[in-house]
Amino acid sequence: MILCDKGLFTLHTKNTTYQMKANEYGVLLHTYYGPRISSGDLSYRIQYTDRSFAPNPEEAGENRLFSLDVMPQEYSTCGMGDYRLPSLELELPNGSRSADLRYKSFRLEDGKYALEGLPAFRGPEGETLVVVLEDAAAQVDVELYYGVLEDYDIITRAVKVLNRGGGTVRLRQAASLCLDFQRGDLDLVTFDGKHVLERRPNRAPLIPGVRSVGSVRGTSSHQHNPFVLLCDHDAGEDHGLCYGAMLLYSGNFEAAVERAQFDDVRLVLGIHPHHFCWPLEPGESFTAPEAALCCSKQGFAVLSHRLHRAIRERLIQNPWKGLPQRVLINNWEATEFTFDAERLMQIAKSAAPMGIGLFVMDDGWFGARDTDAAGLGDWTVNRDKLPGGLEDLVPRIKALGMDFGIWIEPEMVNEDSKLYRAHPDWAFQIPGRTKVRGRQQLVLDFSRREVRDAVYGALKAMLSSADISYVKWDMNRSLATVWSAGLPPQRQGEVFHRYVLGVYDMLARMRRDFPGVLIEGCSGGGGRFDAGMLYYTPQIWCSDNTDAIDRLRIQYGTSFCYPVGTMGAHVSAVPNAQTGRSVPIETRGVVAMSGTFGYEMDLGQTTGEEREIIRRQTAFFKEHSRLIQEGDYYRLTDPFQNGPYTAWEQVSPDRREALVSVVFGTAHGAPPFSTLCLKGLDPALRYRVNGGEPYPGDVLMEAGWPLPMPWDDYQSLQFYLAAV
Ligand code: DGJ
Repeated sequence: MILCDKGLFTLHTKNTTYQMKANEYGVLLHTYYGPRISSGDLSYRIQYTDRSFAPNPEEAGENRLFSLDVMPQEYSTCGMGDYRLPSLELELPNGSRSADLRYKSFRLEDGKYALEGLPAFRGPEGETLVVVLEDAAAQVDVELYYGVLEDYDIITRAVKVLNRGGGTVRLRQAASLCLDFQRGDLDLVTFDGKHVLERRPNRAPLIPGVRSVGSVRGTSSHQHNPFVLLCDHDAGEDHGLCYGAMLLYSGNFEAAVERAQFDDVRLVLGIHPHHFCWPLEPGESFTAPEAALCCSKQGFAVLSHRLHRAIRERLIQNPWKGLPQRVLINNWEATEFTFDAERLMQIAKSAAPMGIGLFVMDDGWFGARDTDAAGLGDWTVNRDKLPGGLEDLVPRIKALGMDFGIWIEPEMVNEDSKLYRAHPDWAFQIPGRTKVRGRQQLVLDFSRREVRDAVYGALKAMLSSADISYVKWDMNRSLATVWSAGLPPQRQGEVFHRYVLGVYDMLARMRRDFPGVLIEGCSGGGGRFDAGMLYYTPQIWCSDNTDAIDRLRIQYGTSFCYPVGTMGAHVSAVPNAQTGRSVPIETRGVVAMSGTFGYEMDLGQTTGEEREIIRRQTAFFKEHSRLIQEGDYYRLTDPFQNGPYTAWEQVSPDRREALVSVVFGTAHGAPPFSTLCLKGLDPALRYRVNGGEPYPGDVLMEAGWPLPMPWDDYQSLQFYLAAV
């Protein structure tokens, strides 16, 4: 998997190869990343030419062909003649801001590395390559970590910067990943949006200059996702070379891509340099979060399959994996803050006979939480609403045959709370400046240990007080006025990152102390849907938008990187609270079951016919949940194209089963004929479609399956294929 030969490092996965080489001046050049090739030194691809205004480092002497500015770098520097995007910027005690790296050594470690306090793909198999670079003048070492997940076609990367000198070095930027291409004819796909419409794929050819997406909100954000794709101009679902890069991080990030002057391209991905400054005292080190790369020459579908499998099998840890799937009911959209124990019992009682196995009590159960203006920070039961407390409510829910889950928002505090009155300085605030509220709440300074300890203590007591097997961890505003009373002025540039480390610390404690509890991540829906969170929270509420038609787009965009089983998705009441649209219950079920599947409505308000449909939906989901959540996912259409229908398909790893889901748009007179060609089947097998006559796989893929003509808006259908 990892070959090291005199400064030449080649990493092989099953289907890809990655290579770098230290040249005669010790500069670590990136020589190749792409489909697997036999081997050999690929540095012959790098052309040394004398380019005007491309400076030459002193050690090159008279050699005007050697310039950092024109060669593909493995980890880019700055201030020393490479004018493209930097990965590393050091501020030295003399005030200079630059970085200059040369190859020093390497080592191989058994197994895939882990990062203390940070999420990372897990081994145990695999090997780690550590390439050590040195900035001799700065007395700084940079260790580049490479993990090879061979079977998954994933290369992971992390970076450790060590101060070996005697003075303070201030880290102004330390990206996790730099990837140079010696070609400019690439498209960039980013996943962008807003609250209630997250992760829309935006694709455009690279033009000269820099395109950058990112977040300075303290979270990865609704606006941009820390996952990007680069691909051939003509790459599509089933063909073309494409590269995916994700950052396993939940805070400020930047993904910047530059198409430079000679049609070379550089991707730099890591913590956003804005607001970031990390002083390293002598002997100290800083570890940048993990980034992961994947490559496919067969288009996006294969790329997604590889990413999904790696995320499912090597990143998330779901304590309920392998146990019978629980369908969930959540009270939020039915009640918001207005409920008491009896109202919750009513909702639970109407859900229990429908095959629903998990009741989740959402926001509003604690402190003085009657509106969003009060209560956050006080994680004790509101006895006006729940007079018997959790000790009474949870056994009553369990007696219905359901598990119990609870909502929390640990990172936040309302000024109208006991916690804030006791510790107003625990919320982020810049001295002398006015407050900036979001949803009437302030953000607790989780960079401070004592703040985390106090909040965790309260949560631990609450979680220990009853049989709770699910926690929804919410986060409902962006950070502002970020300043920590726990750090001196010259270290305020650490706060954003320390906040994220604090969130990870809290989640790690919860996982340690309550290993059987499934934690769902949430941030006003999908405002923190990233691979960093997935390491701790195996599922994330995909969006506050539960409208099934909008969800087609949101789940489509999310699926490029993240597996179906990580996407929180619920059926809610109509007309929908976000869009006012009414979609049939069948279609709402079809869309939500390509996710974690649950209901977020009062099922007591449904008709007898709807209840029958719901019973069938939960039974169908439970029967096929492995296929749905672990099957290879095919996007059969793009819902942003506004075609007559949206379709997708899950195929079991042995290709003996498949589930196809189709949702039509608005109905029109004289509808067109539609034939849907399936994907991923075994051409040699014969499949029964919904139990009918068997058809060969190649026929279903090449000739397709006719779709009925929709009658009325937003109709849907599913067909289940089983090999005979
Ligand atoms: C935002 C979440 O996304 C919703 O599902 C709900 O939990 C509310 N917060 C509660 O305040």
